[in-house]
Amino acid sequence: MKFFIDTANLAQIKEANDLGILDGVTTNPSLMAKEGIKGEEAVLKHYVDICNIVDGDVSAEVISTDYAGMIAEGEKLAALHKNIVVKIPMIKDGIKAIKYFTSKGIKTNCTLIFSAGQAILAAKAGATYISPFVGRLDDISFDGMELIAQIAHIYQVQGYESQILAASIRNPIHIIKSAEVGAHVITSPLSSILALLKHPLTDSGLAQFLADHAKSNN
Ligand code: G3P
Repeated sequence: MKFFIDTANLAQIKEANDLGILDGVTTNPSLMAKEGIKGEEAVLKHYVDICNIVDGDVSAEVISTDYAGMIAEGEKLAALHKNIVVKIPMIKDGIKAIKYFTSKGIKTNCTLIFSAGQAILAAKAGATYISPFVGRLDDISFDGMELIAQIAHIYQVQGYESQILAASIRNPIHIIKSAEVGAHVITSPLSSILALLKHPLTDSGLAQFLADHAKSNN
Protein backbone atom coordinates (compact mmCIF):
# COMPACT_ATOMS: atom_id res chain seq x y z
CA MET A 1 0.00 0.00 0.00
CA LYS A 2 1.34 3.42 -1.00
CA PHE A 3 1.54 6.25 1.54
CA PHE A 4 0.58 9.75 0.41
CA ILE A 5 0.50 12.76 2.70
CA ASP A 6 -2.67 14.87 2.63
CA THR A 7 -1.38 18.42 3.07
CA ALA A 8 0.00 21.44 1.24
CA ASN A 9 2.37 22.24 4.13
CA LEU A 10 5.91 22.04 2.75
CA ALA A 11 7.56 21.42 6.14
CA GLN A 12 5.27 18.45 6.84
CA ILE A 13 5.80 17.09 3.33
CA LYS A 14 9.58 17.30 3.88
CA GLU A 15 9.30 15.60 7.28
CA ALA A 16 7.28 12.71 5.84
CA ASN A 17 9.57 12.44 2.83
CA ASP A 18 12.63 12.29 5.10
CA LEU A 19 11.12 9.18 6.75
CA GLY A 20 11.74 7.42 3.43
CA ILE A 21 8.26 5.93 3.15
CA LEU A 22 6.43 8.65 1.26
CA ASP A 23 5.03 7.81 -2.19
CA GLY A 24 3.16 11.00 -3.02
CA VAL A 25 1.06 13.97 -1.94
CA THR A 26 -2.59 14.96 -2.20
CA THR A 27 -3.87 18.49 -1.87
CA ASN A 28 -7.25 20.15 -2.20
CA PRO A 29 -8.43 23.76 -2.33
CA SER A 30 -9.08 23.78 1.44
CA LEU A 31 -5.55 22.54 2.21
CA MET A 32 -4.04 25.16 -0.14
CA ALA A 33 -6.12 27.91 1.54
CA LYS A 34 -4.98 26.66 4.97
CA GLU A 35 -1.37 27.39 3.92
CA GLY A 36 -2.36 30.88 2.70
CA ILE A 37 -1.60 30.06 -0.96
CA LYS A 38 -3.68 32.54 -3.00
CA GLY A 39 -3.84 33.45 -6.69
CA GLU A 40 -3.18 31.28 -9.72
CA GLU A 41 0.55 32.02 -9.98
CA ALA A 42 1.20 31.22 -6.32
CA VAL A 43 -0.89 28.05 -6.50
CA LEU A 44 0.95 26.76 -9.58
CA LYS A 45 4.35 27.58 -8.02
CA HIS A 46 3.35 25.75 -4.84
CA TYR A 47 2.58 22.56 -6.80
CA VAL A 48 6.03 22.75 -8.41
CA ASP A 49 7.61 23.26 -4.96
CA ILE A 50 5.84 20.10 -3.74
CA CYS A 51 6.97 18.14 -6.81
CA ASN A 52 10.54 19.23 -6.10
CA ILE A 53 10.38 17.68 -2.61
CA VAL A 54 8.69 14.34 -3.33
CA ASP A 55 9.49 11.92 -6.13
CA GLY A 56 5.94 10.62 -6.54
CA ASP A 57 2.45 11.50 -7.68
CA VAL A 58 1.13 14.90 -6.55
CA SER A 59 -2.62 15.49 -6.84
CA ALA A 60 -3.58 19.04 -7.85
CA GLU A 61 -7.30 19.77 -7.84
CA VAL A 62 -9.24 21.74 -10.46
CA ILE A 63 -11.62 24.47 -9.30
CA SER A 64 -13.82 24.48 -12.42
CA THR A 65 -17.01 22.44 -12.39
CA ASP A 66 -17.73 22.54 -16.15
CA TYR A 67 -16.09 20.27 -18.71
CA ALA A 68 -14.27 22.96 -20.72
CA GLY A 69 -12.97 24.63 -17.57
CA MET A 70 -11.74 21.36 -16.07
CA ILE A 71 -9.92 20.47 -19.31
CA ALA A 72 -8.23 23.88 -19.56
CA GLU A 73 -7.22 23.86 -15.88
CA GLY A 74 -6.15 20.22 -15.87
CA GLU A 75 -3.95 20.65 -18.93
CA LYS A 76 -2.22 23.62 -17.31
CA LEU A 77 -1.67 21.64 -14.10
CA ALA A 78 -0.41 18.54 -15.92
CA ALA A 79 2.11 20.66 -17.85
CA LEU A 80 3.70 21.84 -14.58
CA HIS A 81 5.54 18.59 -13.80
CA LYS A 82 5.50 14.95 -14.89
CA ASN A 83 4.27 13.84 -11.44
CA ILE A 84 1.13 16.00 -11.37
CA VAL A 85 -2.13 14.05 -11.12
CA VAL A 86 -5.20 16.08 -12.07
CA LYS A 87 -7.73 15.82 -9.24
CA ILE A 88 -11.31 16.04 -10.48
CA PRO A 89 -14.58 16.02 -8.52
CA MET A 90 -17.10 13.18 -8.90
CA ILE A 91 -19.67 15.07 -10.96
CA LYS A 92 -21.07 14.47 -14.46
CA ASP A 93 -18.64 16.80 -16.25
CA GLY A 94 -15.88 15.42 -14.04
CA ILE A 95 -16.42 11.91 -15.39
CA LYS A 96 -16.24 13.27 -18.96
CA ALA A 97 -13.04 15.15 -18.09
CA ILE A 98 -11.47 12.01 -16.56
CA LYS A 99 -12.27 10.11 -19.76
CA TYR A 100 -10.59 12.90 -21.78
CA PHE A 101 -7.44 12.95 -19.62
CA THR A 102 -7.27 9.14 -19.68
CA SER A 103 -7.27 9.25 -23.50
CA LYS A 104 -4.38 11.77 -23.37
CA GLY A 105 -2.34 9.63 -20.94
CA ILE A 106 -2.71 12.19 -18.13
CA LYS A 107 -3.18 10.75 -14.63
CA THR A 108 -6.34 11.61 -12.69
CA ASN A 109 -7.65 11.33 -9.14
CA CYS A 110 -11.44 11.28 -8.88
CA THR A 111 -12.24 12.96 -5.56
CA LEU A 112 -15.30 13.21 -3.31
CA ILE A 113 -16.29 9.54 -3.70
CA PHE A 114 -18.92 8.47 -1.16
CA SER A 115 -20.55 5.42 -2.80
CA ALA A 116 -19.71 2.24 -4.70
CA GLY A 117 -21.70 3.49 -7.69
CA GLN A 118 -19.50 6.56 -7.95
CA ALA A 119 -16.41 4.35 -7.68
CA ILE A 120 -17.66 2.17 -10.56
CA LEU A 121 -18.26 5.20 -12.81
CA ALA A 122 -14.82 6.65 -12.04
CA ALA A 123 -13.16 3.32 -12.84
CA LYS A 124 -15.12 3.05 -16.11
CA ALA A 125 -13.85 6.53 -17.07
CA GLY A 126 -10.30 5.31 -16.43
CA ALA A 127 -9.37 7.29 -13.31
CA THR A 128 -5.85 6.47 -12.12
CA TYR A 129 -6.96 6.94 -8.51
CA ILE A 130 -10.38 7.18 -6.87
CA SER A 131 -10.66 8.86 -3.48
CA PRO A 132 -13.38 7.61 -1.10
CA PHE A 133 -13.57 9.89 1.97
CA VAL A 134 -13.45 7.57 4.99
CA GLY A 135 -13.51 10.13 7.82
CA ARG A 136 -16.33 12.22 6.39
CA LEU A 137 -18.49 9.08 6.09
CA ASP A 138 -17.68 8.10 9.69
CA ASP A 139 -18.69 11.65 10.70
CA ILE A 140 -22.24 11.04 9.47
CA SER A 141 -22.49 7.54 10.99
CA PHE A 142 -21.70 5.53 7.85
CA ASP A 143 -18.75 3.14 8.15
CA GLY A 144 -16.17 4.61 5.76
CA MET A 145 -14.06 1.47 5.91
CA GLU A 146 -16.99 -0.67 4.76
CA LEU A 147 -17.08 1.44 1.59
CA ILE A 148 -13.35 0.87 0.99
CA ALA A 149 -13.88 -2.90 1.42
CA GLN A 150 -16.90 -2.89 -0.91
CA ILE A 151 -15.04 -0.98 -3.64
CA ALA A 152 -11.98 -3.25 -3.26
CA HIS A 153 -14.22 -6.29 -3.74
CA ILE A 154 -15.98 -4.83 -6.80
CA TYR A 155 -12.72 -3.75 -8.42
CA GLN A 156 -11.26 -7.23 -7.90
CA VAL A 157 -14.34 -9.01 -9.31
CA GLN A 158 -14.54 -6.67 -12.30
CA GLY A 159 -10.81 -6.30 -12.92
CA TYR A 160 -10.97 -2.48 -12.74
CA GLU A 161 -7.54 -0.90 -12.76
CA SER A 162 -8.18 2.34 -10.85
CA GLN A 163 -6.30 2.48 -7.55
CA ILE A 164 -8.35 2.95 -4.39
CA LEU A 165 -6.92 5.91 -2.51
CA ALA A 166 -8.43 5.98 0.98
CA ALA A 167 -8.80 9.69 1.80
CA SER A 168 -10.11 11.73 4.70
CA ILE A 169 -8.00 9.57 7.00
CA ARG A 170 -8.30 10.78 10.59
CA ASN A 171 -6.33 8.30 12.70
CA PRO A 172 -3.82 5.40 12.54
CA ILE A 173 -6.60 2.79 12.72
CA HIS A 174 -7.95 4.11 9.42
CA ILE A 175 -4.53 3.43 7.87
CA ILE A 176 -4.27 -0.09 9.30
CA LYS A 177 -7.83 -0.99 8.27
CA SER A 178 -7.26 0.43 4.78
CA ALA A 179 -4.30 -1.91 4.38
CA GLU A 180 -6.39 -4.83 5.70
CA VAL A 181 -9.34 -4.36 3.33
CA GLY A 182 -7.32 -3.73 0.20
CA ALA A 183 -6.81 0.00 -0.41
CA HIS A 184 -3.95 0.58 -2.84
CA VAL A 185 -3.05 3.94 -1.30
CA ILE A 186 -3.84 5.98 1.81
CA THR A 187 -3.53 9.72 2.03
CA SER A 188 -3.14 10.89 5.57
CA PRO A 189 -2.19 13.85 7.73
CA LEU A 190 1.37 13.57 9.08
CA SER A 191 0.05 13.05 12.63
CA SER A 192 -1.70 9.77 11.76
CA ILE A 193 1.36 8.45 9.92
CA LEU A 194 3.60 9.27 12.90
CA ALA A 195 1.07 7.69 15.29
CA LEU A 196 1.78 4.32 13.61
CA LEU A 197 5.25 4.46 15.16
CA LYS A 198 4.02 4.55 18.70
CA HIS A 199 3.63 1.70 21.16
CA PRO A 200 4.16 2.00 24.94
CA LEU A 201 5.91 -1.40 25.07
CA THR A 202 8.40 -0.16 22.44
CA ASP A 203 9.14 2.90 24.58
CA SER A 204 9.45 0.99 27.88
CA GLY A 205 11.39 -1.84 26.20
CA LEU A 206 13.90 0.59 24.71
CA ALA A 207 14.26 2.43 28.03
CA GLN A 208 15.01 -0.91 29.75
CA PHE A 209 17.60 -1.94 27.11
CA LEU A 210 19.39 1.40 27.43
CA ALA A 211 19.29 1.28 31.26
CA ASP A 212 20.71 -2.28 31.31
CA HIS A 213 23.42 -1.29 28.83
CA ALA A 214 24.35 1.73 30.96
CA LYS A 215 24.51 -0.44 34.16
CA SER A 216 26.75 -3.09 32.64
CA ASN A 217 29.05 -0.51 31.05
CA ASN A 218 29.71 1.54 34.24
O1 G3P B 1 -7.97 15.46 0.30
C1 G3P B 1 -9.24 14.97 0.54
C2 G3P B 1 -9.48 14.44 1.93
O2 G3P B 1 -8.41 13.69 2.37
C3 G3P B 1 -9.97 15.48 2.92
O3 G3P B 1 -9.94 15.03 4.24
O4 G3P B 1 -10.10 15.49 6.67
O5 G3P B 1 -10.94 17.21 5.03
O6 G3P B 1 -12.18 15.08 5.39
P1 G3P B 1 -10.84 15.73 5.39
